[in-house]
Amino acid sequence: MKVLFVGGTGNLSGDCTLRALAKGMEVWHLNRGSKADGVPSGVVTLSADVRDEMAASRALGAERFDAVVDFVAFTREHVEEDIRLFRDRTRQFVFISSASAYRKPPVHHVISESTPLANPYWKYSRDKIECERRLEEEARSNGFPFTIVRPSHTYCSRWMPTAFGSTDFTVPKRMLDGRRVIVHGDGQSLWTITHARDFAVGVVGLLGNPAAIGEAVQIMGDEALTWDSIHVTIATALGAEPRIVHIPSDFIAAVDPELGSHFLGDKAYSALFDCSKLKRLVPEFRTTVTFQEGMRESAAWFMAEGARRNADPVLDAAMDRILSAWDGKAV
Ligand SMILES: NC(=O)c1ccc[n+]([C@@H]2O[C@H](COP(=O)([O-])OP(=O)(O)OC[C@H]3O[C@@H](n4cnc5c(N)ncnc54)[C@H](OP(=O)(O)O)[C@@H]3O)[C@@H](O)[C@H]2O)c1
Repeated sequence: MKVLFVGGTGNLSGDCTLRALAKGMEVWHLNRGSKADGVPSGVVTLSADVRDEMAASRALGAERFDAVVDFVAFTREHVEEDIRLFRDRTRQFVFISSASAYRKPPVHHVISESTPLANPYWKYSRDKIECERRLEEEARSNGFPFTIVRPSHTYCSRWMPTAFGSTDFTVPKRMLDGRRVIVHGDGQSLWTITHARDFAVGVVGLLGNPAAIGEAVQIMGDEALTWDSIHVTIATALGAEPRIVHIPSDFIAAVDPELGSHFLGDKAYSALFDCSKLKRLVPEFRTTVTFQEGMRESAAWFMAEGARRNADPVLDAAMDRILSAWDGKAV
């Protein structure tokens, strides 16, 4: 199997690369080469910005693949470009969508692939829905061989996923500094969180799998945690004590509408998933990395080098603003 990852060195695609190599696949990357140091040997890298269609097409040349996975398609325009780039270059095209696309507010606490898609709160999710619709249309009119993957919150060993951001060290740093952190609602809603190593087993198991063509498949582990326990687990891994302040999602949205859309459009609701379709298609899929283990690995990665422990000043200031608005309101 010859597979191409658009991406390949990121949060999800890095572990997918390792899994594909372990399964004996020939792995190609298409990316801008910003993390060239960590690329495993055996991977062939094509350098291009995929948003520059001409450059991407030139880099791809006459190469053909058994499967292409685009990890960085977010809008209908991105998918239009993918269709043009890959319709004659691959036997299977995998679009990474998002479980946040499922209807909000939810009508049932267990989500499966047949749960309707609709998210009036979060543009990111509406864009993913449009991407899915475009692929379905292309399959109907021209037989485009798509597979849609819907991950929920998924992290690699360089992330500490929190309610307020996952790609930076803002919330963990506040914990280490003894500052307050916000958990939305009463901290008791359930959230499914998956390690990228487990996610990778699902994705790679779908590649070259004829039963996955024309299908949407959600990939997530079976560990559901309360938001309070997510924050306590992160703090424990760092050797810190979390100072949690509970603030309702609609209050967060009133103070900061952009941040609020991530709660009202996603994290405010319990998210439990029925992954029986995935387990039928990829029988070896299971949850092997608990959140506690995952956070120990991530903490070790962050604590190994000071330069990794960077807070996002904009997010940090936004959290302070929400906290002081809440302090002013609370009686
Ligand atoms: N993580 C989650 O919790 C989660 C949940 C739901 C859905 N998703 C979806 O999962 C996908 C992957 O997310 P991720 O954060 O894990 O991404 P990722 O795999 O970390 O993607 C980053 C990779 O893409 C490359 N890249 C970025 N921009 C590029 C460009 N313009 N041209 C070429 N290559 C580019 C990066 O390399 P260079 O920078 O060197 O180019 C890197 O290899 C996204 O579509 C996201 O919507 C993620």
